[in-house]
Order: sequence, then C-alpha cells, then structure tokens
Amino acid sequence: MNDLHSPNGVPVIDIHDITKTYEMGKLTLNVLKGISLQIKRGEFVSIMGPSGSGKSTLMNILGALDQPTSGEYNLDGEDIAKLSQVDLARIRNRKIGFVFQSFNLLKRTSAQRQVELPLIYAGARDRSKRARAALEAVGLQDRLDHLPSELSGGQQQRVAIARAIVGDPSIILADEPTGNLDSKSGTEVMQIFQRLNQEQGITTVFVTHDPWIARHTQRVIMIRDGQIVADQQVAEPLVAGESERPSEAEELQGIFEAAYATPNAGAAD
Ligand SMILES: Nc1ncnc2c1ncn2[C@@H]1O[C@H](COP(=O)(O)OP(=O)(O)O)[C@@H](O)[C@H]1O
Ligand SMILES: [Mg+2]
Repeated sequence: MNDLHSPNGVPVIDIHDITKTYEMGKLTLNVLKGISLQIKRGEFVSIMGPSGSGKSTLMNILGALDQPTSGEYNLDGEDIAKLSQVDLARIRNRKIGFVFQSFNLLKRTSAQRQVELPLIYAGARDRSKRARAALEAVGLQDRLDHLPSELSGGQQQRVAIARAIVGDPSIILADEPTGNLDSKSGTEVMQIFQRLNQEQGITTVFVTHDPWIARHTQRVIMIRDGQIVADQQVAEPLVAGESERPSEAEELQGIFEAAYATPNAGAAD
C-alpha cells in the first residue's frame, strides 16, 4: 500500500499475524493461523470462505468482541491488543456496528426501541430523534412501532442495520447479513450497505458465502483453514439492484464450463 499517508489511505483496521487457538481438552484447535490484513478507511470488503474456515472468529476479533491468542491489532490508530475488557467495550460501542445473519432483535421490542437501545447504553442524548433518523436511512420510517414478528426478514435486517449505524460507527462488521434472506431482500440489504458506504464513508466488512453478493463489494478476501488464500480488488463492483442476477441454470453452466473446458474439448472419442 503506497498511499498510507493520505487521509483515505489510513488503515482503520490493521492486524498483524493474528492467531486464535482453542484448547479442547487435549486437543488444540488452531482456528486462525497467522492473519495479516489492512483495511483502509471507507473500503467495502467482503470475506469469503468455506464454513468452518474461521470467518466469524476473525470478525469477532476485528470487532473487539474477542481477543486473539497472539498477534497485533491496531484499530483506528489505537493498539487494542492490550486493552482491558472495559476499554474494549468502550471502543466497540463507539466505533463498531455489528450486523448478524440472525438479526439478533428483541422479540417484544418495537423497531424504534431496538435502535434506541445502544444509545441508552451509551448515555447519549436525542435518542428517539436519532433512532428515527437511522430507521429512515434504511427506509423504515413508517415501521417505527412494529415488532419483529410484524416485519419481513428483510425489514428485520434493516432494523438491525439501523441499530448498527445509530451510534455513528466508523466500521460496520456484518457476518453473513444476507444469509437468511431471499434474493430480493438480500439485494435491498446490499443497496443499503452500498449507500452507507458511499454516502457516509463507513468502512464495511461483510462476510458472505455468495459470490454474487461479494461482487457488489470493492475487494474480496478468501479464507481457508484459518489463512488468507486470496485478496483481490473487484474490477467493477456491481451496483445492487441494477444488474440481473444470472439464473441458477446459467450459474451452473458457468461453473461446468470453468471446470471442464479444456483446449481439446470436443475432440474426445
Ligand atoms: N468457542 C469455540 N471453541 C472451540 N472451537 C471453536 C469456537 N468457535 C469456533 N470454533 C471452531 O473454529 C472453527 C472456525 O469457526 P468459525 O470462525 O465460526 O468459522 P466460519 O464462520 O468460517 O464458518 C470451527 O472449526 C469451529 O468449530
Ligand atoms: Mg460464521
């Protein structure tokens, strides 16, 4: 990276040789095996990889929900590897918004109240006004009093996004946020993430299994068995909702062609 000194080139996430190990009785599970990664302010990054490859473990460390076993982590210019739990929680509340696959909403709580909660914990002012503004930013201004059971999956995820952004975080971490959604709702959620990234410059890290979704981000990082195996810029990120997703049949055809095309195809027999 050669532009570290311009304001937009400053890494907001800077980890070096992070490992995470779980002791399971006599067994030692090396889940992250030395991950180094820099994410610049304003970047929109997706993380892909098979189930069990360590994506959520990495996200929890990036989000200061969990500490690495070893390695360095500089978050927004602050060395957080040595902070106490209390200080970590403070950083988390101030700088990071989380969105999860399962929405994690409270069952008997209205949309507006869900979004106010982080502000209540933070002791912030103008809570209801800010909660309404965040819900408006995700297009739910007419659903303020609805309970989760009165909202579609896509709408519930938008409430969770409003809750994640209401505290003005510098980073959003989303762990498979479209994993439980049909493709139309997934596209709507992607539109919101793209808009927040473009209009408010929120650095966004997004775990997905879906290569189509990943093509809507600027950079794709692939993880396998606790290591980064690829890290590439997306040449022309798709704009959510503007291009038609290929049908499953077309996607399958593409996979077959990529897997079986050989220079001599057709010359067999
Ligand atoms: N708290 C834990 N204790 C023991 N093993 C864990 C724990 N959390 C995750 N793992 C293991 O770490 C590996 C990676 O898990 P995870 O990060 O959730 O993968 P992914 O999100 O890519 O599916 C898995 O083998 C999982 O079983
Ligand atoms: Mg996971």
